[in-house]
Amino acid sequence: MLDRRVGELVAFPTETVYGLGGDATDEAAVARIFAAKRRPRFNPLIVHVPGLAEAEVLARFDERARSAARRFWPGPLSLVLPRRPECGLSLLVSAGLDTVALRAPGHAVAQALLRTAGRPIAAPSANRSGRVSPTIAAHVAAELGDSVALILDAGACSVGIESTVLDLTGAVPALLRPGGITFEQLSAIFGPVEMAVAGEDAPRAPGRLPSHYAPGRPLRLDVVDARPGEALLVFGPEAPPGFAAVLFLSQSGDLGEAAANLFAMLRRLDRPQFSAIAVMPIPHEGLGRAINDRLRRAAAPRT
Ligand code: TXA
Ligand code: MG
Repeated sequence: MLDRRVGELVAFPTETVYGLGGDATDEAAVARIFAAKRRPRFNPLIVHVPGLAEAEVLARFDERARSAARRFWPGPLSLVLPRRPECGLSLLVSAGLDTVALRAPGHAVAQALLRTAGRPIAAPSANRSGRVSPTIAAHVAAELGDSVALILDAGACSVGIESTVLDLTGAVPALLRPGGITFEQLSAIFGPVEMAVAGEDAPRAPGRLPSHYAPGRPLRLDVVDARPGEALLVFGPEAPPGFAAVLFLSQSGDLGEAAANLFAMLRRLDRPQFSAIAVMPIPHEGLGRAINDRLRRAAAPRT
């Protein structure tokens, strides 16, 4: 049986992606997460809780934050809020900021783990820093198998793309990372939502550094015509001719299905025999914003 008191790490499924979990109140456990991922220590982690009651102990919620939690939790939304001084959370988990990102995941296994642990769990995506997030347990085993005491395997993640990160510390809600809850869903509740542009003001959400989510092969976006040796990710019913391999993100043009398939298909096409991974245009709406955000980062020059 896993002993949480010695600060071991557990990989676990959420509805978005697999997380690399550790006791968020244990500085050593949190340090182990950063080390396993080779993650720069200026990039803070998301702290997971079962729900709003447990979250309010850790951060200050105003009515706006409470209504967001009531509407979207448990689910793929992380809220950046002021840390309570007495929260007991590791300092490293917030990378020294006076804010903390909180999320109540909807996955039954994540909920069971959180309730059994009886404490908040810090969990970034269970991949090496800068690489593609894992949506099945085998991805975690391949990349971080040596760093974790246990991998809880519950099959494929249903959303497949990370949570939306929403900063509620300012007067206007700021979208730091598009994700499983869409801009349109947030605007319907909050009215104006500021779009924090990637690369700018990077420490606010360092996960938004231009190059991120990168496969090993080069990526080419908004592709309509084949170049020699390319593999293609198709969106829609038909693949243009001339590609060395094709995978369909969604033949029916469903953005939810495309998001769920994105990371696993990027990994499947990330092979030296292909000159590049080409991706057809994806609409910039709903979950398409999150998909395009990840693709743009994956295609960015490597830092
Ligand atoms: O879906 C998800 O969010 C997954 C699952 C496991 O919950 N987790 C995840 O964590 O994607 P990670 O560490 O890969 O991404 C966390 C993002 C980063 O972009 C980080 O910069 C941002 O959240 N973040 C965390 N704490 C923050 C804070 N206090 N202020 C601003 N951004 C923060
Ligand atoms: Mg990540």
